[in-house]
Amino acid sequence: MAELESLYGADKLRLAGEQAALLNLPANAIDFARLGGTIKLCNVLTVLPTTDWKEITNHLLDAAPGHAGHLPEGKLQLGLSVYGLNGLNVNVKRLQATGLELKKAIRASGRSVRLIPNKEPELNSAQVVHNHLTGPLGWELVFVRDGQSTILAQTVAVQDIEAYAARDQKRPMRDARVGMLPPKLAQIIVNLAATGTNPHGSAVLDPFCGTGVILQEASLMGFDIYGSDLNPRMAEYTEVNLKWLENVAGHVKSHDTEGKYFRIEVADATVHTWGPAPNFIAAETYLGRPFSVQPPPEVLQEVVRDVDTIHKRFLQNVARQTHAGFRLCIAVPAWHTKNGFKHLPVLDSLEVLGYTRKSFVHVRDEDLLYHRPNQIVARELVVLVRKQE
Ligand SMILES: C[S@@+](CC[C@H](N)C(=O)[O-])C[C@H]1O[C@@H](n2cnc3c(N)ncnc32)[C@H](O)[C@@H]1O
Repeated sequence: MAELESLYGADKLRLAGEQAALLNLPANAIDFARLGGTIKLCNVLTVLPTTDWKEITNHLLDAAPGHAGHLPEGKLQLGLSVYGLNGLNVNVKRLQATGLELKKAIRASGRSVRLIPNKEPELNSAQVVHNHLTGPLGWELVFVRDGQSTILAQTVAVQDIEAYAARDQKRPMRDARVGMLPPKLAQIIVNLAATGTNPHGSAVLDPFCGTGVILQEASLMGFDIYGSDLNPRMAEYTEVNLKWLENVAGHVKSHDTEGKYFRIEVADATVHTWGPAPNFIAAETYLGRPFSVQPPPEVLQEVVRDVDTIHKRFLQNVARQTHAGFRLCIAVPAWHTKNGFKHLPVLDSLEVLGYTRKSFVHVRDEDLLYHRPNQIVARELVVLVRKQE
């Protein structure tokens, strides 16, 4: 939700049930491939004034055969997905029965149809991709309970899981010690930092670039990229990874073409002056020591203090060289303890440092936390805007 709000504006967006958001935009105005936090993009076909599955089925049986008649020649691949099962009086078995009835009705109109079986109420990304449900002969019909109504929508795009896996696992230089930032999370960080949706001529800086995942994703979106890291080995890893991306995908420009630039340097983010000045910062900062088990309180305290000092100096350094309105999204550590999350202390003195923390209309700050069960060091997403002096 935060990602969508950041890119398209709070007023264009609202939650529909717990798993879907309604965006008041045409689907083709959305650059789906750059969204890290959205699994499917659907076009709303109609809103039915009921949540009764029998009535919904009747509507489908009436309307679908006519629509199927407009499809190109060939066998139609049909799939059904329900989000918010509890609110609709349907289960997987009944959903499957509806699919079969629908298949029969479409067949009766002279079309051949194959129904994709549901293992779960929702088809997953792999099922949608492998059965070509977003292609010219595919139909994934999606049902979302929204208050007293049911939204009927059709999937137009789905997350390209194979491309994400390749970007993550096939990079030549990886390093478990600096952590493995999932490309989807990197996209979210860039999207929370970027102002506006047009990447053209805009440069992102990652001052803690590590192996370069954020820069990789930003570059694929079309931003100019600028990275630095204290550790020369990391700067080199970023460079090798981005060269690889350029070679395999032909996306990244490692030299100045079409006004794009690409720059990687070895630098301490607490003191360095970056030039040319970037348009925004997107980074996963220094997370401190990784922990696989709960550390003793005094050890944790020391780590928090050290990491906090680096963040404070970094933010002071950035404030010194940026103007009001400059925006950053940083993923910073938060430590999962028995008593809840321990946040970075510096987050309580952002105003003094010259920043305002951006809050979102549709998401609470405390929910912008990315962590897996049993993980001790979580990542907290913080969006900051440089204040007026
Ligand atoms: C969590 S990692 C970032 C990983 C990165 N997102 C990636 O894609 O691999 C943090 C990085 O910050 C770097 N670092 C730590 N202190 C720094 C400092 N003072 N200035 C710049 N970089 C620093 C580390 O070398 C490390 O590569």
